[in-house]
Amino acid sequence: MTDRVIVIDHPLVQHKLTLMRQTQTSTAKFRQLLKEIGMLLAYEVTRDLPLKYVQIETPIASMNAPVLAPEKKLVIVSIMRAGQGLLDSILELIPSARVGHIGLYRDPTTLMSIEYYFKVPHDIEQRDVLIVDPMLATGNSAVAAADRLKEVNPKSIKFLCLLAAPEGIKHFQEQHPDVQIYTAAIDERLDEYGYIVPGLGDAGDRLYGTM
Ligand code: URA
Repeated sequence: MTDRVIVIDHPLVQHKLTLMRQTQTSTAKFRQLLKEIGMLLAYEVTRDLPLKYVQIETPIASMNAPVLAPEKKLVIVSIMRAGQGLLDSILELIPSARVGHIGLYRDPTTLMSIEYYFKVPHDIEQRDVLIVDPMLATGNSAVAAADRLKEVNPKSIKFLCLLAAPEGIKHFQEQHPDVQIYTAAIDERLDEYGYIVPGLGDAGDRLYGTM
């Protein structure tokens, strides 16, 4: 099941994730940790970005030095609202990335995703998409986001989360076997309300203090 899932098990990521899981972690601290962990995750997700070589002058000599290839154009697509936290930290690392937003809410009875907002760059067909949402729980939002994005035909799609449930991974992979999933951890299971166990609670509530 996990061959299309990359677990980013760097010690700094794992340490920060443990702090985020703890009930006593304040909203301000949770937000700070999500920012830090988001940058570490982005570092791994962007590992395969292509480089090109340009001639530069150092104070000592000329050299042919690597820079990011401009033809690789990224769009970070945040699933609102919890995706915003990851989005902000990734933009710190890749300020030139374009941004898309998908507004989805979860019907509390059916747990299905309902779209209320969709805005992506007009040239998305020339861009590679990274969908971000801290929690891959039932997988319904992630599947709905990837379904919707495929309608506008980006060059490629990756999905980045902080925590994933096995049920969500299975569901997502059944619907989108071509989309690579990146996560910091795969937890045990979902509870009857669709929360990840042991998880970290409601990521949006913890990020914005709306518990
Ligand atoms: N969304 C959350 O914020 N937390 C969960 O555990 C599941 C979905």
